[in-house]
Amino acid sequence: MEKNYYIQPKDIQIDEIYKRGATGKIYAGTFKNQKVVIKIFERSCKEFRNEILILTHLQNKAHHENIVEMIGYHETSNGKQFLELSHSLESTNFIVLEFVSGGSLFDKYHQLRTKKQKISEEKITQYAKDIASGMKFIHELNIIHCDLKSWNLLITEDDRIQICDFGFAISNQKIEQNFDEQNTSLFGCWNPPESLNNFQQNQFTQKTDVFHYGLLLFEMVSLQQPNSFYSKLKKFYQSEKNQNNVLFDLVSNDAGSCNKEILQIMVQCFQKDPEKRPTFEDIVNKFN
Ligand SMILES: Nc1ncnc2c1ncn2[C@@H]1O[C@H](COP(=O)(O)OP(=O)(O)OP(=O)(O)O)[C@@H](O)[C@H]1O
Ligand SMILES: [Mg+2]
Repeated sequence: MEKNYYIQPKDIQIDEIYKRGATGKIYAGTFKNQKVVIKIFERSCKEFRNEILILTHLQNKAHHENIVEMIGYHETSNGKQFLELSHSLESTNFIVLEFVSGGSLFDKYHQLRTKKQKISEEKITQYAKDIASGMKFIHELNIIHCDLKSWNLLITEDDRIQICDFGFAISNQKIEQNFDEQNTSLFGCWNPPESLNNFQQNQFTQKTDVFHYGLLLFEMVSLQQPNSFYSKLKKFYQSEKNQNNVLFDLVSNDAGSCNKEILQIMVQCFQKDPEKRPTFEDIVNKFN
């Protein structure tokens, strides 16, 4: 039987603001004695509806250990801003998620950089496997995440990864709403080569997520945001010497030393032709 995710605002206790996201604020709180985060949507209802539909669809299929767990949500037709902790939650749109205590992968990079430390090779392999496994499940359900980046990856208490933030995700199948109306145009600054000159609708494919996964591996190895590397990649795509050995040298020079398997996966994820990039199933199989 499908679970009912509807939550009564009176069952939520909000403690403090935890993070500020682009679509709203994330509060720490409790729901029936469980520590949770409450993601309150201040503007777009579109992203709120999208996120609850996608998470419901995923969770009705199965619970996946590498995807954040939604406990429930509250929806109102006239969703208002939530400005003060003393305000009632009754007139807001919010999602309640299990609290994932280790912060985001982005936060982790920042802490390690400050301490001049790196992520060990074993840990990189574990994180890479966790993300690929969650993404394989998402793609099997014909969903494209569309915003795969280190801010949207959470670290659990036992140091494993969970994928979050499905506000921009798209589904090839109609789940309930009319997905034609979705915002499927590309945004962000690290778009794959097939989209560089084409910002039209429906440019996202599962291979876009795979390209972004390659950038995530780059970030994990180098602990740097891929801005300057991405500029070099763009030049590589435009050059005549568009060959694999050139790409291999570019990635290994810029990322720094890492396990050969991870380096090879990065090179495959950065293939100019999206068809030549692996699927997440291929990537998961490489780790087994
Ligand atoms: N379940 C959770 N447990 C702990 N922290 C969380 C959880 N969900 C989100 N966060 C934290 O809140 C931040 C923002 O969450 P999320 O990405 O879902 O919101 P957003 O408004 O869509 O953000 P943006 O658009 O800026 O990426 C995350 O980067 C993470 O640090
Ligand atoms: Mg986010």
